[in-house]
Amino acid sequence: MKTPDNPFVLHTYHGKKYFCDREHDIEKLQEHIQNGRNVVLYAWRRLGKTALIQRFFDLLEEEGEHETIFVDFLACHSIDEAVQAIASSLYDRYGKLETGFSASFQKLLASIGATLSFSPLTGAPELSVGVRPPDSEPKSLTALGEFLRERKKKIVLCMDEFQQIAHFEEAKAEAVFRFWTQQFPDIRFIFSGSHRTMMVEMFASASRPFYQSAQLLSLKPIPLDRYTDFIQGHFAEAGKSISKEQIERVYTWARSQTYTIQLVCNYLYSRSTVVEDAEIEQVLVEILEQQQAVFANFSKILTHTQWRVLKAIAKAEPLHNPLSKDFLQKYRLGAASSVSTALKALQKSEMVVVDEGAYLVHEVLLARWMARL
Ligand SMILES: Nc1ncnc2c1ncn2[C@@H]1O[C@H](COP(=O)(O)OP(=O)(O)OP(=O)(O)O)[C@@H](O)[C@H]1O
Ligand SMILES: [Mg+2]
Repeated sequence: MKTPDNPFVLHTYHGKKYFCDREHDIEKLQEHIQNGRNVVLYAWRRLGKTALIQRFFDLLEEEGEHETIFVDFLACHSIDEAVQAIASSLYDRYGKLETGFSASFQKLLASIGATLSFSPLTGAPELSVGVRPPDSEPKSLTALGEFLRERKKKIVLCMDEFQQIAHFEEAKAEAVFRFWTQQFPDIRFIFSGSHRTMMVEMFASASRPFYQSAQLLSLKPIPLDRYTDFIQGHFAEAGKSISKEQIERVYTWARSQTYTIQLVCNYLYSRSTVVEDAEIEQVLVEILEQQQAVFANFSKILTHTQWRVLKAIAKAEPLHNPLSKDFLQKYRLGAASSVSTALKALQKSEMVVVDEGAYLVHEVLLARWMARL
């Protein structure tokens, strides 16, 4: 990997040097995988799930006993698209042999009705799946699994943004994937998702196909002391400095969310040699101003009451009792019943989440922006 322009990277994983801590989580993942357990990795948004899996996969590949496959379901809306996403990941991993495409991979493509074509724009090979008979997806999944089963090394396959399957066109998607994972007991699966409630419901409610089929691993924020060492280390390496107290200010403002901490540090690192307190405040304002257009749009998407409730939650953070008289009166929210309805809608879309009893505007930057309104 190339050296990044700024050590506080903003786009997933960029090698060990730019990756802070997570040792405990990696140990847990190791233990589960080594003992034949599938894992559900879930957390609030932008805490570092994807980066952690990439770090973990890097380690597994280095150790040499496993082959790792990473599939992103974020853009998938059907089982068919999920099959294509898996096939593309397999192509990235196995399709490109120096002497051409491997024979076993070609056989796999034929069995799932996929072809390789060359992009007219870049000339790079692309995988495309033509029109296939209806209900052929389970067979295609089986073919993908069988291909992996033939590999000499053990396989670990991660499906990121797995909560998407609850929104697939086909109601049976969960059952189809559950069946697939059961068909291949030698493959280790990691299901990763950003929709915490849904991940827990999908894997922890008795009526759902994935009930108790994997170990739940909840990702928590990186501890402040670990982050402090990491940040100060990178500043020092460039002859720059930032104090412990200043890092704590950033960490608290970012509600210990990895992405927001990285973003603020990325700015501070680029701006100063010795960070001044005033500069931090200036950067925070600037970051929020950049988001203005996006955030202002929410007022159009939400109902008037939802918007007002959201704003009040942002201002009152951490809020423990959203229906208390004090809260309703202070922010002039009107009747508890209408606030309750708005709150339910906000929670359903995870605009608002409840973390250890506190109601929070999920998106940290949005929360900070709304608190200033
Ligand atoms: N341990 C880490 N050390 C340094 N930076 C990290 C670490 N983990 C994540 N990041 C950074 O934090 C940001 C968010 O990480 P990532 O995309 O992995 O989160 P996520 O939980 O998968 O988010 P989403 O909910 O959007 O899928 C990225 O910019 C990534 O580079
Ligand atoms: Mg992610």
